[in-house]
Amino acid sequence: MRKTRGAVRRLLAAGLFVGCGLAATGCPNTSPDPNDPNGGAGAVSFAADIVPILTAHCAGCHSPGGFAFTFITMDLRAANAYQNLVGVASVQASGRVRIVPGDATASYLIEKVTQDQPQVGARMPLNRDPLSEAEIALLRDWIDAGAPNN
Ligand code: HEC
Repeated sequence: MRKTRGAVRRLLAAGLFVGCGLAATGCPNTSPDPNDPNGGAGAVSFAADIVPILTAHCAGCHSPGGFAFTFITMDLRAANAYQNLVGVASVQASGRVRIVPGDATASYLIEKVTQDQPQVGARMPLNRDPLSEAEIALLRDWIDAGAPNN
């Protein structure tokens, strides 16, 4: 009995830390390890989880020779994406930062992939199907975990 209550408390605590219940996009890490204070959310890897999204959906336009590169020099290929995103000011939307480590909601990239009418321009990826809920959740979790270059 006592053991069960402890386990429930730990699960509740993990849920509160992650805040998954409040996230509109849901939480992809639904099997939190009770010993991990992040409930698994901190496990998103830039190289393993984020780069494949950028490569598949973004880098074609956002790289030298790409459609968007002449006026937005934002290279989203694997080797250059991190330096072009984290803490870097938007060239289009004044006062905005592409990725604000620790704050997905404030990050302009999240606005660009989730809203049909972001502050400037159109939803990304331009003229294509929106990213899936799971892909957006990975981006959010990685940013909220501090956008580590891992
Ligand atoms: C078909 C080409 C194309 C694809 C694919 C594409 N983009 Fe874009 N992107 C553009 C163009 C063109 C602009 C400028 C016009 C606009 O913002 O609507 C832009 C602008 C942006 C900006 C604003 C940059 C700034 O500094 O203000 C961000 C952020 C962005 N894209 C992110 C992405 C992400 C993330 C993806 C993949 C999920 C993506 N884009 C896929 C063409 C593309």
